[in-house]
Amino acid sequence: TAPILRNLNELRAKHASWIRAAESVAVVPTMGALHAGHLSLVEAACADCDRVIVTIFVNPRQFNNAADLANYPRTEHQDAEKLAGHNVDVIYVPDGSQIYPDGYATNVSVSGVSDVLEGEFRAGHFDGVATVVAKLFLQTGAHRAYFGQKDFQQLMVVKRMARDLDIPIKVIGCPTVREPSGLAMSSRNLRLSAEGLDRAAGLYPVMQQVAARLAGGEGFGPLADEARSKLEALGFTDIEYFDLRCEDRLQLLQTPTRPARLLVAAWMDGIRLIDNIEVPVL
Ligand code: PAJ
Repeated sequence: TAPILRNLNELRAKHASWIRAAESVAVVPTMGALHAGHLSLVEAACADCDRVIVTIFVNPRQFNNAADLANYPRTEHQDAEKLAGHNVDVIYVPDGSQIYPDGYATNVSVSGVSDVLEGEFRAGHFDGVATVVAKLFLQTGAHRAYFGQKDFQQLMVVKRMARDLDIPIKVIGCPTVREPSGLAMSSRNLRLSAEGLDRAAGLYPVMQQVAARLAGGEGFGPLADEARSKLEALGFTDIEYFDLRCEDRLQLLQTPTRPARLLVAAWMDGIRLIDNIEVPVL
């Protein structure tokens, strides 16, 4: 099993020995509570790079709700066991002081792609993400970083940030891993009841139908109205957004005339769920 390192100095020593040996280094940033979605990123990293660092850090700065932060699952022991089956070299679980030492005062804020969707409903969230991910990129010195398309907007924010700050890392997006029911895997699913899980599984087929009908030439407006009613009938309470947006800049579209995604955030049983899928270009 991979060693757990909690200090930046230990991580830097490992990194230096790898670089001396001209090895390529991957990082997979996570907040733990690992599931098959996270493990798919680890697998992609292992396939591409000589060395793989998985980071586990529940980043307080990206939570806009104290209760959500307090309730976030912390399962370090089980996480390490899950990673033991994979070819991971280091599990970096930084102490809080390694990320935000006393006097820490810097914020990384990405405008544009951060402002819509999640940015509108979770104030400050992407500043927290961009800040911690910039630090993790610089601390690990990785050549490649692996992120899930499950959090599509996060992937876009991180790509923009790395480009803008000239961090020499390639950010790679990996497909969303789903339950057999179609529900996108998420640590938040653990908080749904059996019935909530069942109802939430209805989201993916609704999105797929909309994507198929967009591909058939229907306009997005009426399709979105119909989809919202279906989601309400399934028991989703607050549909925060159900949008068609272009992939690169996340601007609203009426027809997928360029690479586009359907993105949704909605509440089920008091749990906030997000999902997105690719839409064929017309
Ligand atoms: P976390 O929610 O733990 O997710 C870590 C990575 O796993 C992210 O890149 C996320 O997109 C990916 N992931 C989650 N569920 C997935 C699924 N079903 N299929 C594929 N990939 C999935 O996202 C974060 O942590 C944090 O914001 C972080 C980037 C670590 C910064 O704190």
